[in-house]
Amino acid sequence: MPTLTFHGHSCFVLEHGGKRVIFDPFLSGNPKADVKPTDLPHLDGVLVTHGHADHLGDAVAIAKQHAATLVAPYELALYCGDRGVEDANGMGIGGSREFPFGHVKLVAAVHGGVVEGEASGGKGGYTSFPCGFVVTMGGQHVYHAGDTALTLDMQLLEGQVDVMCVPIGDHYTMGPEDAARAVGFVKPRVAIPMHFGTFPAIDTDPKRFQSAVGARAEVVVLQPGQTYSF
Ligand code: NI
Ligand code: MN
Repeated sequence: MPTLTFHGHSCFVLEHGGKRVIFDPFLSGNPKADVKPTDLPHLDGVLVTHGHADHLGDAVAIAKQHAATLVAPYELALYCGDRGVEDANGMGIGGSREFPFGHVKLVAAVHGGVVEGEASGGKGGYTSFPCGFVVTMGGQHVYHAGDTALTLDMQLLEGQVDVMCVPIGDHYTMGPEDAARAVGFVKPRVAIPMHFGTFPAIDTDPKRFQSAVGARAEVVVLQPGQTYSF
């Protein structure tokens, strides 16, 4: 039975059969993080949706520490590889691949692409396109939407997603009402809100999301440190 553990903002660890992958490991400097990047148990994969600091976060250091497979949009993976990540896999939107920990597909996200890593002086000397991920482990399909607007492309995922991690914070991404429409497009069994409450600009109430989703999916609100099994 796969599990998803929330670590604040858009960071989750997906685990099944002893394999563990982390999404968007923004832990250092994340006021909602419940764990230090150096205290994470073993990781097989590091998945990064885009280069913004609140998603790229500690990805390079964590991938090196665990000798983990990093997966990211092509240019962002090059950036991480240039910073010493040995197994940095750059992929394109629509592409998929079987990794030892599970199957990963990159899907579209409508958002910005600047890479705000330390090595670019925090100023964004690099750019890449953003993505969402559909990861299959233990026969369950998890869609981590990254940062995105509501987009009709999400309708392409209907019937292919069991659990959807969806940004609801507004300002930089969908707000609660658009996020609920996204759930209506994708039709997952379970929707888990993310990317809210970390900073004042995205301080939205997940209850607004929950009531907008209504009966379209089960909404599971995780606090940092909490785990959901499915
Ligand atoms: Ni972003
Ligand atoms: Mn973000």
